[in-house]
Amino acid sequence: MSIRKLFTDDNKFSTDKGPWFGEMPVPRGGDYDFAFISDRTGGAVYGMFEKGLEAAKKLNPDFIVSIGDLVEGYWTDEAEAHEEWNRIDPLLAGLGIPVFQTVGNHDYGTEAMIRVWRERKGVDYYAFRYDRTLFLIANTETAPLPLPEPALELIQQANRALIRNPQMLFNDVIRDLAGDYAAALFKLSEDMLIHPHLSGEQIDFFERVLADNADVDWTFVCMHQPAWKKPDKIFERLEALLMNRPYTVVAGHVHYLEVTEKLERQYIQMGKTGGLHCFDGKGDIHHILAVKMRGGVPHFEVILLEGEGGTDPLDDYVIRTAQPR
Ligand SMILES: [Fe+2]
Repeated sequence: MSIRKLFTDDNKFSTDKGPWFGEMPVPRGGDYDFAFISDRTGGAVYGMFEKGLEAAKKLNPDFIVSIGDLVEGYWTDEAEAHEEWNRIDPLLAGLGIPVFQTVGNHDYGTEAMIRVWRERKGVDYYAFRYDRTLFLIANTETAPLPLPEPALELIQQANRALIRNPQMLFNDVIRDLAGDYAAALFKLSEDMLIHPHLSGEQIDFFERVLADNADVDWTFVCMHQPAWKKPDKIFERLEALLMNRPYTVVAGHVHYLEVTEKLERQYIQMGKTGGLHCFDGKGDIHHILAVKMRGGVPHFEVILLEGEGGTDPLDDYVIRTAQPR
């Protein structure tokens, strides 16, 4: 019998809301396709996220998973946070394809953003099963870095300017508002950018879900920040729970596509689906990721959104020098 099931943590949440749109189709059994979309934040390149959604729709996937950071966020006024979600949520809801959201730092970076997420979307971590595949949707934003008041204010001013002029770029807006020095401050190194924090209660929940779904063919761990790039005991506990099953980890946040091979699995850090240019190199692309589940095993294809489009094999983005920790 085909199984499609959502799992939420009853110990933590009492809500029937969730960060998803639409309803999973009844699995046909056997092979199927789905897609991942990535970050659109930091002043989305005009129209690129929408192009990504169109490309995802063309794949005719059974569902889409967003890896987080769909709004600029960092609002301290709940009304402005709602306004921004009011522009993005209908794009997802209107696709006619189920979309599952992962929470990102822009979506969840202030107390107001957290309150608005809870009000609109209920839970911030969850899991779902689609036939013989399991998805753990984690929240890496449980201890957000508090931004200094002036930085927060500058980001909010920039966001308001981008709402008025969506064709402008974030860095140009910051430069207009506060000069070259401020614009330079927003050029962060990868090390400065990555601050994942998974809460222990999530791992307790995932442990129960994994035990109840020991029979799946494959497990995807979806998280906004690439937690494998920083020493993290909580993430290591999750990896230990996954040890005896095939799995893939998918993250975003860095706006640079690269694949780390570790523990004989792939840890995919997606590039951008409209988001700000952060780092130069092969992985600095706007894309979505098509996943074809064949015989229970995922096959990935990088769908390019710029220029002539086209596709790349995901293996082109594997870091060949990476060593397992
Ligand atoms: Fe992010």
